[in-house]
Amino acid sequence: MKAAAKAHTNIALIKYWGKRDESLILPMNNSLSLTLDGFYTTTSVEFRDNLTADRFYLNDRLIEGVEYDRVTAFLDRIRTMAGKSDAFAEIHSTNYVPTAAGFASSASGFAALAAAAAKAIGLTVSEQKLSILTRQGSGSACRSIYGGFVEWEKGIKADGSDSYAVPIAPADHWDIRVAAVVLSSAEKKILSREGMKRTVHTSAFYPAWVDSIPDDLAALKDGIMKKDFEKVGGIAEANCLRMHATTLAANPPFSYWQSTTLLIIQAVQGLRESGITVFFTIDAGPNVKVLYLPEHEETVRNELLNITGVHDVKVSKPGQGVSYI
Ligand code: PMV
Repeated sequence: MKAAAKAHTNIALIKYWGKRDESLILPMNNSLSLTLDGFYTTTSVEFRDNLTADRFYLNDRLIEGVEYDRVTAFLDRIRTMAGKSDAFAEIHSTNYVPTAAGFASSASGFAALAAAAAKAIGLTVSEQKLSILTRQGSGSACRSIYGGFVEWEKGIKADGSDSYAVPIAPADHWDIRVAAVVLSSAEKKILSREGMKRTVHTSAFYPAWVDSIPDDLAALKDGIMKKDFEKVGGIAEANCLRMHATTLAANPPFSYWQSTTLLIIQAVQGLRESGITVFFTIDAGPNVKVLYLPEHEETVRNELLNITGVHDVKVSKPGQGVSYI
């Protein structure tokens, strides 16, 4: 009754922004991401007879409170699926995701937890079912089941049975790079959950965001298939800016950016003006991820490290999907 799994985080090139169902975590729009090899989580789950409650260790520390509640609520879904309501587990998770890099460790965390817990309790699930299960722990995590370029289909059913990730192209399809630019200061953040909710309910720009997705998706997939970096990077950057524009039109308005965020955006634009094809994308936080081709690695890294307020630059290649260890 013990299993362990490893999952990588992912970066959305077309963002998931807004839920149509808060409890089942069903999105308003399809999204498309790249799984990254640089950041991952390993998790072991052991169901034991002598336990009367779950025990969750993260980076060797016993966790209580909201983080623990989120994990047990997720295991409740697995217990229900397996018909084993009194099976409790000891969970050990290690994050190789520098939280300072602005990556939500929830993506790799819930993907690894779902895979390990399902196996440990004896459930045989397809990757599609695993993606549906993972989605209910953290939305963006459902894309981390697969490696490479992955689309999350929003689905239309009320029960969420058609809302899951689908692989678009494997990690070895195309060697593009993602540099996570780590800022030296991080302000108190509006969680993506709250940010999305406020935007969906109050932003005048939200309907325009949803309307823009189908065209972005079709063009992005075409660009990925043809390995057209200008097209892929251009769409990812524009899509990110459109997502962030919805927050400015929310009530009350908000923005995830800090002054350093804008400095990095300007540096990327400057590199582009000098002929280097490089693009940025930003999630629900101030950190920036920079997309570029391997031949520009040194130039891009040096340029980013020169910006005042930039603490570190962590580079990733396309990564693999979930695996058992
Ligand atoms: O699943 P969450 O709550 O980590 O939401 C992630 C939302 C964004 O990172 C902003 C976009 C995305 O698709 O990953």
